[in-house]
Amino acid sequence: MKNAVRNLKKGAKAQVRKLAEFRGIKRQSLTQYQSSVRKLYDGPRGAVLKFSSIISLHEPLMGALFRSGRFDASRFSRILDVGSGAGQIIRHLLKTARPEAEIVGFDLSAEMLRRARERLDSPRPVFVAADMMQMPFRDASFDCITCGYVLEHIPDPLPGLSEFARVLKPGGVVLLLATEDSLSGLLTSHTWKCRTFSRQELRSACDNVGLTWQRELWFTRVHQLLRLGGILVELHKPELQTAPEDAARSALPQQNAVACSSHACCQPVAQ
Ligand SMILES: C[S@@+](CC[C@H](N)C(=O)[O-])C[C@H]1O[C@@H](n2cnc3c(N)ncnc32)[C@H](O)[C@@H]1O
Repeated sequence: MKNAVRNLKKGAKAQVRKLAEFRGIKRQSLTQYQSSVRKLYDGPRGAVLKFSSIISLHEPLMGALFRSGRFDASRFSRILDVGSGAGQIIRHLLKTARPEAEIVGFDLSAEMLRRARERLDSPRPVFVAADMMQMPFRDASFDCITCGYVLEHIPDPLPGLSEFARVLKPGGVVLLLATEDSLSGLLTSHTWKCRTFSRQELRSACDNVGLTWQRELWFTRVHQLLRLGGILVELHKPELQTAPEDAARSALPQQNAVACSSHACCQPVAQ
């Protein structure tokens, strides 16, 4: 009986979401939709994004998350910020990551990256404009990915999450923030022409690409109570499992080991 009620509630919630969520993302082809997203962020709405992030408290709350060490960025040496927007997350990475850590800002909108560069006024981050579903980076290039309110801009999260799993080193960490299918999330979906996620579907998409749902975070207790701020989660890419005989072999001195001559394997990421 309890299960039937739960399923009924779930079904009703899915129906409400279907009706209330921004639907353009499903009605247009991927190319049309992405071009409208690029235009949206290139244009005046993108220009005021930095202000709306401050007014909505997203940027200050993100700062508190980093400063308090609840997400400790000083663990990492190569950090990729996907969908950097106005540099809301990079701003905090610059303050909390190790001084020698490399930081790459990445966005579909070259105009947003120009604004982020101007706003951050730091020579440190490298900026790359491209689509998160086809990232121009080698496999296992980063030990951390941060991604705030971006995944909801692609209709199916799997191609984006698969790219995360590919460019992340084994043992790497993702800090993911995505719009939830709550009342405030549904309003956001219309303002920013994006979709929303239920925790369950986002979690199963992460599982599908081999990223482990490590822990859910909340900006504050009030956010948790009122389900505000979105789905904030730390994901882990598992370490490579070494077979015992491989481990024993790799512990032996490598008699034939030579340094790579071309350094093709040691080059920095495409920029
Ligand atoms: C709401 S802003 C997020 C800004 C920032 N990350 C934050 O936490 O506030 C979303 C950003 O994602 C970018 N974006 C949308 N679709 C993208 C895609 N397919 N690949 C890369 N970036 C994308 C947009 O251009 C925009 O700058």
